[in-house]
Amino acid sequence: MHIPYAFLTTDEFSQKGDLVLDPFSGSGTTLLEGVLAGRSVVGADANPLARLITKVKVTPISSERLASSGKVFKENISAEPTGDFPDVVNIDFWFSKRVKTQLQCVLESVLKIEDKDVKDFYKVCFSSCVRKVSYADPRVSVPVKLKYQKYPSGHPLRKKMKTHLESLTDVDVLKVFDDVVARNTTRLLRLNNEVGLGAMEYSLATDANNLSSSKRSNSIDSCMSPLEKESVQLVITSPPYPGAQKYVRTCSLSLGWLGVCQSSNLLELKRQMIGREEFRKTEYELLQETGLYRADEQIQSIYVKNKQRARIATSYLLEMKIVIQEVYDYLKTGGYLVLIAANNTISGIKFHTVDYLKDIAVSTGFDVEGVLIDDIRSRGLMTKRNKSASVINREWVLVFVKRC
Ligand SMILES: C[S@@+](CC[C@H](N)C(=O)[O-])C[C@H]1O[C@@H](n2cnc3c(N)ncnc32)[C@H](O)[C@@H]1O
Repeated sequence: MHIPYAFLTTDEFSQKGDLVLDPFSGSGTTLLEGVLAGRSVVGADANPLARLITKVKVTPISSERLASSGKVFKENISAEPTGDFPDVVNIDFWFSKRVKTQLQCVLESVLKIEDKDVKDFYKVCFSSCVRKVSYADPRVSVPVKLKYQKYPSGHPLRKKMKTHLESLTDVDVLKVFDDVVARNTTRLLRLNNEVGLGAMEYSLATDANNLSSSKRSNSIDSCMSPLEKESVQLVITSPPYPGAQKYVRTCSLSLGWLGVCQSSNLLELKRQMIGREEFRKTEYELLQETGLYRADEQIQSIYVKNKQRARIATSYLLEMKIVIQEVYDYLKTGGYLVLIAANNTISGIKFHTVDYLKDIAVSTGFDVEGVLIDDIRSRGLMTKRNKSASVINREWVLVFVKRC
């Protein structure tokens, strides 16, 4: 089931023209579904690449604009780069000299595109091309150097991964990029057909803990006005998990190539993520309380086993409390909050994230409207860290209403 689609294509929770918010919008699935369903949409994501992808997803561009900038892109592409390579973490570990040079030539030509929306579209295409031509294992979400030898001889993936590595020796980066552009152009033109080319209302903030920083804009002009309290009819979101997903590391190569986060700023960006693992020893020595009785008991047991992971869980819940309170303030009376969440295991102890999020929402003032269970189809970003962590395979859809 496509959960955002199911909630956005019924009049039960919101109607055409209503404002829909996703405070953890990721690559913008909910916002796109909202736009397609005729809602105004607001999102937030701490990851600048996620915000760029979202902006591109909800911004229709005419085929004429695409074609004319595409022509300029082709004319400007050169065989040798003119500028310095961007600050990409361990660039020479992940890319051969040849590939690095070709990527830089493509990027320089992308950056010369004057039409901002088309340039952003090309940047997103470039970011998905980066991973494809790197030495990173395409089957692992975070960059891990591909070693075909890890598959036993005779295993079908051994041959496939060996062929992939060999193909990188003479890969034509421009051809890979052109293929990505062609595929994404088809998707974009489909969006034009579905929503037309009018000014699209969307907003994006950088921090779910500070939604008032949301900048309202549209794809054609950029008029800004702050998000207003009690203006949102439906909030639908998949919050991060505590200590289980590595959003920044997953796209660290693209962040560097696009110049949106240099390698020296990656740690700072990771520290902005809810559910992060990055804590200094001094930050986790002392056990903090969340004020949620059931959670604090469990965190106590985790603390005995692993202080750092206890701190990850505590900070996660404290920060989710702030987000849920914020969301409550922005919702209209009668508005809905839909949380798509799952439980996970921390230090071998089952962490009842779903129950805790429910406790937070209820103590904030929400009423529970319903609870659904769904099996997860994609586990792309989940990491099985070690024996004491687990892969999540079931998620809960918690529906709350703000009564007064
Ligand atoms: C489970 S993912 C959301 C996936 C999304 N529904 C999609 O379709 O891509 C959680 C998102 O929360 C974002 N995030 C983590 N901490 C954040 C914060 N403090 N403010 C805003 N977004 C944050 C992550 O970057 C990630 O994209």
